[in-house]
Amino acid sequence: MVGDIERILFQERTILRRLDALAARVAADYQGRELTVIAVLNGSLIFASDLLRRVPLPLQLDCLSVASYHGGTESSGVVTFEQASLPDVDGRHVLVLDDILDSGRTLHAIAERLRREAKPLSVEACVLLSKRKERAEHFEARYVGFEIGDEFVVGYGLDYQERYRNLPFIGVLRPELYAS
Ligand code: IMP
Ligand code: MG
Repeated sequence: MVGDIERILFQERTILRRLDALAARVAADYQGRELTVIAVLNGSLIFASDLLRRVPLPLQLDCLSVASYHGGTESSGVVTFEQASLPDVDGRHVLVLDDILDSGRTLHAIAERLRREAKPLSVEACVLLSKRKERAEHFEARYVGFEIGDEFVVGYGLDYQERYRNLPFIGVLRPELYAS
């Protein structure tokens, strides 16, 4: 598994140090507010569990499952919600957690649907990684762990065809493993 990684971008200790800073900002910004965190599964699972344990607020946690990749390395352009219903966020502020901001389609679709159907007081996003690139859907995440180039990365929750999520670091997958 480790042999499939071309280059390590962020070691676990680097990630956790960055999460300390992100968590401090989230805690300061949402202090005294009713906060619901929505973790986008499966990619944000490890990120969410490390981040939220650093946020000393009485928040609520929900999860949302969406699919946009369908197993490849390019977003399919269609965002499918796996559940019909959304968390009840009436009168609450929502912070959506995702592993990575790439084309922007996933977070754009989630934020739009939440605003339209669940009508929370506010919707912001926190992503561990943001790719520096032209996005298909304009989307700004208020909190970004690290900016990276337009490369396909795995580990620390991020997968390629459901593999590599349990690597403790984030690295660039060797392109010959997915080039057709
Ligand atoms: P977007 O809708 O294109 O912004 O993509 C968001 C989703 O695509 C993320 O939640 C990831 O699951 C997946 N994704 C995008 N880029 C990568 C990558 O480099 N590695 C692994 N998954 C990725
Ligand atoms: Mg994925």
